[in-house]
Amino acid sequence: MEKADAKQRILALRELLRENSRRYYVDNAPTMSDYEFDQRMHELEDLEAQWPEFDDPDSPTHRVGSDISGEFVQRAHRYPMLSLGNTYNIGEIEEFAARADKLLDRSFTYCCELKFDGTAICLNYRDGRLWRALTRGDGEKGDDVTRNVRMIANIPHTLKGDYPADLEIRGEILMPYSAFEELNAEREADGDAPFANPRNAASGSLKLTDPQEVAHRGLWCTLYHIPAESVSFETHDEALRKAAEWGLPVSKDRRLCRNIDEIKAFIEHWDSARRDLPYATDGIVIKINESDCQRALGYTAKSPRWAVAYKFKAEQACTPVLSIDYQVGRTGAVTPVANLEPVLLSGTVVKRATLNNPDQMELLDIRVGDSVYVEKGGEIIPKITGVNLALRPAGAAKPDFPQTCPDCGTPLIREADGAKRFCPNQDGCPMQIKGRLLHFTTRKAMDILAGEATVEQIYDCGLARTPADLYDLRKQQLVCLEGWQERSAQRFLDSLDRSREVPFERVLYALGIRHVGETKARALARHFGSIDALMEASEEQILEIEDIGAVIATSVREYLGKPQHLREIERLRAHGLKFSVSAAADALSDALAGKSIVISGNFSISREAMKELIAAHGGKNSSGISAKTSFLLAGSKPGPEKLKKCEQLGIPVYDEDTFRAMLPADNTPKAPVEEQLTLF
Ligand code: IVH
Repeated sequence: MEKADAKQRILALRELLRENSRRYYVDNAPTMSDYEFDQRMHELEDLEAQWPEFDDPDSPTHRVGSDISGEFVQRAHRYPMLSLGNTYNIGEIEEFAARADKLLDRSFTYCCELKFDGTAICLNYRDGRLWRALTRGDGEKGDDVTRNVRMIANIPHTLKGDYPADLEIRGEILMPYSAFEELNAEREADGDAPFANPRNAASGSLKLTDPQEVAHRGLWCTLYHIPAESVSFETHDEALRKAAEWGLPVSKDRRLCRNIDEIKAFIEHWDSARRDLPYATDGIVIKINESDCQRALGYTAKSPRWAVAYKFKAEQACTPVLSIDYQVGRTGAVTPVANLEPVLLSGTVVKRATLNNPDQMELLDIRVGDSVYVEKGGEIIPKITGVNLALRPAGAAKPDFPQTCPDCGTPLIREADGAKRFCPNQDGCPMQIKGRLLHFTTRKAMDILAGEATVEQIYDCGLARTPADLYDLRKQQLVCLEGWQERSAQRFLDSLDRSREVPFERVLYALGIRHVGETKARALARHFGSIDALMEASEEQILEIEDIGAVIATSVREYLGKPQHLREIERLRAHGLKFSVSAAADALSDALAGKSIVISGNFSISREAMKELIAAHGGKNSSGISAKTSFLLAGSKPGPEKLKKCEQLGIPVYDEDTFRAMLPADNTPKAPVEEQLTLF
């Protein structure tokens, strides 16, 4: 390659890698595969080594990808947070071991571990208490996500045993597959784009601005590195054993290896065994175990010389498309699904893959008879990533996306800004009616003992069209159905009975209002407290809720504006379902009874959580300052208008600390003391 070409290529690669690094670490929506990214990075490394005159300390080869989002306070890391050199080639692992053998003049071992596919975290414990958690950021400074990390179930807030007074430990925040599937289903129902894989979902969830929401995301943590500058141990393995003794989550799936053959055996074992793990891994990390050997090898600007990652390639299979089905969901959205010639992929037989929408079909240019590549990344549902055009049969025609609903024949519509097609026949399309009934019964909604087959049967026999019909069912009707017995009918009716205790936020979710998934239903329920208040609310009032946008507000108003929905709600209410939050269930005290409180500004918890806290202690949240206001609870940056009005009317203004001191026991999430904001 000529010098000028090399320079041009180097600059182009840097640009490409920076852009994709931002999409990966900041947007959590990468458009390039990890493999492709790593290959381009290696190409740049090679070119920079070959043309040192073009090397640049700012090159992505010398800097870790930054996850700083601008929404959090940034804090400096005490010790830089580095990345790992990686390879897909076992020969390079052999070279790594040979180099270490040559450079080290004593015998040593390797600690082989899983490479967890999540987002890196750095935890600090002082006197055994968790006081700070930072993301990797740009390696020098990270986003302070302490409040969110406190919501992760397996991260202890306090340590046990003989822990050191000051401890820094690093690891990974993961989203297990089960939580990932649930979250994406919910996002689709909310009309939000699903996360591409559990890594992006973990990283996006860790950066949520409401810690209460983080608590619902099912995040998990595993820790794998104590910087030697923090606490020094003879070996890495000993450090991890001690961390486990202090109550910290450390994976047991590691092994001490004496040579390259043992390393290879470990890699081979986990290449298939990792499929049984409940979370994503993307390789194996090989670390030299002895601390003095680690010290001798040291670091490059970007990664330790005493560790390397062997990465697994995403598994791919190539199989023909037999036919394409068009499925109608409960919202009327029509989704194309490819039926595939069954093929073995990552230990499971794949027969179907969704194609999302007509635009994606167009993009991939898929035709019946085509051989397509299917890939299983983190997701349970496989993805079609491309078509092998060389194998396209002659005359394979472009599939025609149906113009009418495959279930009821109604002409499909395309929404203004979306790629999806919808069947508008909400009240008459059997698939939509059954879909809504099934949604109502699911575990996260009303948790009624009825699967797809039961719902289908009850609908087909004309026994139910809407959820309220389910509560009218009698045992005599059920036992007449094929396959039903006295016992199964009773169990079904008992589960309907129990569903009367399901809290309002889940009832609201169960109604199946478009774009109102679990999270949004919770926010609406907490804010308005009852269906009656929600019915009275204007679109503008709904929009006042954090994280509720115009699409959702319009959808809620539209839903509650239809007489058939109001009739259905009244029938459900008559059947005893909860249509308001039960104060008794959530009450913590009556310390604020009779007080009318206005909040303004930001607090150590979200504004929604603060309102909930007020209600839980018997207080009333009001939106505007009036003579009846008991006090203004002011966080950071309170509204100047509100402050002025308080001054005019002589209404007291309290900061968060003063307010919390009014409450009997503080068992709600709170920021570390040093971070609380005192205004007055
Ligand atoms: S050790 C100084 N061990 O992989 C080296 N990292 O691609 C500290 N990772 O930034 C890292 N599993 O986020 C280490 N068992 C493991 C790991 C691991 C996953 C992540 C980590 C790192 C990235 C590099």
